Amino acid sequence: MSRGMTLTILTGALLMNTLAQTGATPQLGSTTKKSFGKTPGGQPVDLYVLTNKSGAEAAITNYGVAVVSLKVPDRSGKLADVVLGYDTADGYVNDKSYFGALVGRYGNRIGHAQFVLDGKTYTLAKNNGENSLHGGIAGFNKALWTARMLPAKDGQSLELSYLSKDGEEGFPGDLKVTVTYTLTDANALKIDYSATTEKKTVVNLTNHSYFNLAGQGAGDILGHLLTIQADKFTPVDSGLIPTGELRDVRGTPFDFRKSTAIGARIDRDEEQLKLGGGYDHNFVLRRSAGVGESLAARVVEPASGRVLEVWTTEPGVQFYTGNFLDGKTVGKGGTTYPKRSAFCLETQHFPDSPNQPKFPSAVLNPGDRYHTITTYKFSTEK
Ligand code: BGC
Repeated sequence: MSRGMTLTILTGALLMNTLAQTGATPQLGSTTKKSFGKTPGGQPVDLYVLTNKSGAEAAITNYGVAVVSLKVPDRSGKLADVVLGYDTADGYVNDKSYFGALVGRYGNRIGHAQFVLDGKTYTLAKNNGENSLHGGIAGFNKALWTARMLPAKDGQSLELSYLSKDGEEGFPGDLKVTVTYTLTDANALKIDYSATTEKKTVVNLTNHSYFNLAGQGAGDILGHLLTIQADKFTPVDSGLIPTGELRDVRGTPFDFRKSTAIGARIDRDEEQLKLGGGYDHNFVLRRSAGVGESLAARVVEPASGRVLEVWTTEPGVQFYTGNFLDGKTVGKGGTTYPKRSAFCLETQHFPDSPNQPKFPSAVLNPGDRYHTITTYKFSTEK
């Protein structure tokens, strides 16, 4: 090899490195880091842009581990950003909708904002009527996480960790949480969640991405076709707390066992739809035997051909149709997000499990490891 050639290779490597640090033009199969603003306390917030070998891109911030953007191709290969979000950290600091966020320590609701463990009552903030929602006033979505870019053989990985202190938002036990997001070269966003605790506690972690497969800001999601692998769902009361019943979906607007437009039945005069203002319910997933992930849901956007499959190890999924979006929040590029302009499929243990002895347990004991996996797989069809 000539000296000239060696220099060119070295300069190339240096250039790649500089790009990786400044976050200029993303290279295929790379992760870049750039500044995303500051926390209210003045700490710098970063944005990590993961680009896979086929050009799909996931941008994730270490503030609340929010998935800020997710660019995937349509049937002709054209990329669109399919999640709602904000342009800077400030948006996430002020956010009340949990756009893209990592939700914890307990995703979804806990009735009357309290629960009992070993005879002791734990009281949480009532941040949703009488109930606790998504980990409280300052849940995991308002924390600054420690991020580390990891080598991955099949894509780009980012590991984020956080120590939730004993008593934070009322929950017992120091909880060490690590989540790894991998954007695979096959256009899947895989989320691996793990946690350990110092004291017996409850844990329910999820990702709260709001999807619109036509592209964020491209109207409502009522024409998206949805299948959910669930024979039952958990009906709720007026505070959206499960009544404890596991109700058969057969003959109800909650029957998504066959692909059905999200909007086909959403405005029916039906008690549960009225309580949710649309869909805002936990579905009981039909899990395959074994320990791995099972298919939970599949969504097709007919015009673009984009397909999203949600795979998970969790027993439930909250299907939420953005009923509380009101078009007032200003998101990416000045876009506003009206009611039902996105849907969420939040994989989870059932809402209010700490108070529902018949639901799968969300208790984590010291010495045990909480570990769940959810993968959002993107593809296209004709
Ligand atoms: C809940 C909704 C809530 C939304 C945003 C969903 O998980 O089920 O009721 O409005 O999150 O907080």
